[in-house]
Amino acid sequence: MALDPRDGALALLRLLEDLPGERRIHEPLAPYTTFRIGGPAWVLFFPATVEALIEAVRRAQAEKIPSRIIGGGAKVLFPDQGFPGLVIHTRFLRREEEREDGLWVEPGVPISTLVSRGLWVLAGVPGSAGGAVVMNAGTRYGSISSFVTAVQTLLPDGSVATFPPEECRFSYRNSVFREKRLPVLRVGLRLPEEKRLVTEILAERRRTQPLEFPSAGCIFRNPEGVSAGWLLDRAGLKGTVVGAAKISEKHANFIVNLGGAMATHVLSLIELAQNTVRRVFGVQLTLELEVVRT
Ligand code: EPU
Repeated sequence: MALDPRDGALALLRLLEDLPGERRIHEPLAPYTTFRIGGPAWVLFFPATVEALIEAVRRAQAEKIPSRIIGGGAKVLFPDQGFPGLVIHTRFLRREEEREDGLWVEPGVPISTLVSRGLWVLAGVPGSAGGAVVMNAGTRYGSISSFVTAVQTLLPDGSVATFPPEECRFSYRNSVFREKRLPVLRVGLRLPEEKRLVTEILAERRRTQPLEFPSAGCIFRNPEGVSAGWLLDRAGLKGTVVGAAKISEKHANFIVNLGGAMATHVLSLIELAQNTVRRVFGVQLTLELEVVRT
């Protein structure tokens, strides 16, 4: 039976009633994303513990209510109409534990914290540990997959499993967690032995990327052997505007929100960019950005 937003939100509140954490009803998602775009979720839930997250996911699944987990909200585009279901935010899941086999962190630990613990290759990458694992976040210096020792996850049958790296099926900006939509519960990391000062890396990013505007970082994956930014630039797309969204003049693989951009503006620019690059170079660009469709 299809629920309307009011009944859906109330049903969800009841479903999660006894779980520790905070919840907001019909909460706009824009402020929780780096793009600053997205309409309201029926319920936005901030579990206080990983166990509460597990239980929320299990219950939503059992009731066939759509659910999504967000951390830093760095690589996601929610529709302007919002999300008809449960969005779970990992902001309170920030515990860290030093064990003999390395550092274990909960999914809401910011990537910037991991960088300060020694994971310098991710310097400047926005987002959270959970999101970084889901999309195997990386820079030209490397990806998180090289440092993951194990990931605890929730299987579709509701059981908790710990995957060694080979079961995570990491590839460029992808993993089994992204492919199969498996929640990341805890991440084991072995930090690099080599230390590096990150100030230069951050300065380089500021110089080459439009960090002064809200964005979702790079929109497209780099095709084999070439930068998507270079292709978009050479295809003449820099500065193209739809509504309040613009293909950055500083880095063509960024779409920036000039203020009040809608998801539809971004989607139009994505389509225009893909069509143009296909016409000019015969290359099909694929998305790195996660576009939520409802
Ligand atoms: N370039 C242009 N025009 C542009 C943008 C880039 O000609 O508008 C050229 C640059 O001059 C350079 C080449 O393309 O010669 C590569 O550009 P850049 O060094 O900026 O790297 P990138 O391949 O565009 C990748 C990651 C970034 C990461 C940087 C630095 C992808 C899709 N992008 O960008 O990741 O920050 O390297 O490590 O893998 C992200 O994933 O959100 C992201 C920003």
